[in-house]
Amino acid sequence: MEFLELVKTRYSVRRYKPDPVPEEDVMSCLEAARLAPSASNSQPWEFIVIKTPELRKHIAESTYSRLISFNKFALQAPLIVAVIMKKGHILSQIGASLQGTPYQLIDIGIAAEHFCLQAAERGLGTCMLGWFNEKKVRKLLEIPKSKKIALLITVGYPADSPKPKQRKEMNAMVQKL
Ligand SMILES: Cc1cc2nc3c(=O)[nH]c(=O)nc-3n(C[C@H](O)[C@H](O)[C@H](O)COP(=O)(O)O)c2cc1C
Repeated sequence: MEFLELVKTRYSVRRYKPDPVPEEDVMSCLEAARLAPSASNSQPWEFIVIKTPELRKHIAESTYSRLISFNKFALQAPLIVAVIMKKGHILSQIGASLQGTPYQLIDIGIAAEHFCLQAAERGLGTCMLGWFNEKKVRKLLEIPKSKKIALLITVGYPADSPKPKQRKEMNAMVQKL
């Protein structure tokens, strides 16, 4: 697929078919994430692939509550991937601190989007979830406090269809000097 076409194809999928995600597709998404650029090439990420139904259900349940239920769709996803943010390379940490820019978060965002774009290229749907009970997920996945659970990504075959993209106009985004 032509790159801009792929970018237009990816959308946040919030309804999934129950069909499992083929292992080779998961691996190609992980490979795309692995190849992402990062500050000082520090690659401050780990990806945890959660397939086991019982664990996946518990993880999905940590993304919503009775009060805030917009992520309840995560229960349908046949696969959930947790994106863990580790401390960056010492050079990246120093640079980030001096520059006042959280490079690790930028790195995680790029890797996560590589993952999602590759999924879209394979006909899979994804949704990045930034809203979840981190404490609960940390306990379920046994993640130490030295690492942050930055994102969960739901993955599966879409059972919905894309809506037109809501984006700011080009001139609200770009300044040409
Ligand atoms: C860091 C991040 C966190 C997000 N968290 C959630 C979330 O918790 N629940 C959700 O339904 N969508 C979440 N999204 C998806 C955004 O709502 C979505 O990307 C945005 O509305 C644009 O729509 P599109 O992805 O369909 O193009 C998140 C996206 C990002 C990048």
